[in-house]
Amino acid sequence: PPSNMDQKKEYLFKVLVIGELATGKTALVKRYVHNFFSEHYRATIGVDFALKIVKYDDDTVIRLQLWDIAGQERFGNMTRVYYKEAVGCFIVFDVTRGSTFEAVTKWKTDLDNKVQLPDGNPVPCVLLANKCDLAREGLVNSAQQMDEFCRAKGFANWFETSAKENINIEAAARFLISEVMKHT
Ligand code: GTP
Ligand code: MG
Repeated sequence: PPSNMDQKKEYLFKVLVIGELATGKTALVKRYVHNFFSEHYRATIGVDFALKIVKYDDDTVIRLQLWDIAGQERFGNMTRVYYKEAVGCFIVFDVTRGSTFEAVTKWKTDLDNKVQLPDGNPVPCVLLANKCDLAREGLVNSAQQMDEFCRAKGFANWFETSAKENINIEAAARFLISEVMKHT
């Protein structure tokens, strides 16, 4: 008889992680993929890669290829190359530094200008308010205003996360995957 294996669906999704310097992109990826956190900051040069295998449901396995892009790349000319064929994106800011939130719109515009899904839709994008273990500054104190910001700017959703305390990273990833799945 055919085994259940025959019904298994597998997907490979390229997902970008972008946002300003030192917002915690690498820390989020390391926590999510290796369950590891370090207080030590070492700026990413160019791009780092990580692969996370996610059992999405009983018959669906997702291979998430995470592209952890250096914050300093917003001023470089490689993002178009890095964004190519991405199907999902996290934009990360640091809740303790309002300037990193202000840059979120610039990252979103850069993304939408340089990459679309094969069906022409914008790449599903989730906003991560990272370092929520620390004191927050600015708009992120109002969930209602954050919801409104996401609607206005075309984010599918936002999550408060902490790479340090391992808060909400899995939930944010599951949400983004479900958005990407809508286009498969
Ligand atoms: P670039 O590679 O330069 O773009 O930075 P990045 O966004 O990858 O930042 P990175 O992950 O290297 O983290 C920067 C600093 O913030 C490091 O010292 C981390 O330990 C710290 N950090 C990251 N996430 C958290 C968090 O959730 N809470 C706290 N308290 N610190 C964090
Ligand atoms: Mg980094």
